[in-house]
Amino acid sequence: MADKKIIEVNGLSATFGEREVLRDVSFSAYQGEVTVILGESGSGKTTVLKHLLGLYDIQEGYVSILDNDISDLNEEEQKDLYLKMGVFYQNGGLLNSLTVGENVSLPLEQHTHLDDDLIRRIVLTKLQLMHLNGVYDMFPSQLSGGMLKRAALARAMVMDPPLLFCDEPGAGLDPISLASLDKLILNLRKELGMSIVIITHEVSSILRIADRIVFIDEGKIIFTGKIKDALESKNKEVHDFFHI
Ligand SMILES: Nc1ncnc2c1ncn2[C@@H]1O[C@H](COP(=O)(O)OP(=O)(O)OP(=O)(O)O)[C@@H](O)[C@H]1O
Ligand SMILES: [Mg+2]
Repeated sequence: MADKKIIEVNGLSATFGEREVLRDVSFSAYQGEVTVILGESGSGKTTVLKHLLGLYDIQEGYVSILDNDISDLNEEEQKDLYLKMGVFYQNGGLLNSLTVGENVSLPLEQHTHLDDDLIRRIVLTKLQLMHLNGVYDMFPSQLSGGMLKRAALARAMVMDPPLLFCDEPGAGLDPISLASLDKLILNLRKELGMSIVIITHEVSSILRIADRIVFIDEGKIIFTGKIKDALESKNKEVHDFFHI
């Protein structure tokens, strides 16, 4: 069974101005698992993710990713680490002035020396994996909402990162499109062995994909553990979230 820690967050706190946004946040994520971060709007989910991605300096606490203390890396080590992490940003769509193919190619063009032909073949494979055929030369404005999400997911995983982060990938999707997006995400875990950290508050989605959950309320962790333990939790908020 997968039990290798790939992310460890310990005592992470963050204050912006007067506002304490994260307070003593601690949790771990494990290799080959889908870890869901959930909580109300404004609870601090995206802020946790931004710390993991190195977008904020750690004010207090400790964050380790793939056995690297992220406060302790030089520029080169940082670059190496972040190349192992794919990101699907909340509201972070594709660039409208580029075709879908060009959008998905970007990480490969920026970070590898592969020739154009090979990049094109890799991108076509990833698009196919996301059930997107025939969209390579289309512009984002010509895609449906669900297709856009899948194209953004293709871009996030085009470098085959062992670790994938997604901030509300299913937001705004109808239940059927959401279910098929979930299936694709589960496939990435199963077929490619990716470890995935996802922010979502769609209960149906959480029940389908989560191995483990991290429940945040007003910047504090109120539950972290396996989904089956969450479903049996006596904590009122956790219980109500899953049983209403
Ligand atoms: N850089 C910042 N400066 C000041 N306040 C911030 C900053 N980043 C986040 N916050 C505040 O921290 C709180 C948590 O924000 P965050 O974006 O993490 O919430 P969230 O849980 O992702 O919510 P949502 O579900 O709406 O995306 C919010 O009140 C927000 O205004
Ligand atoms: Mg958010």
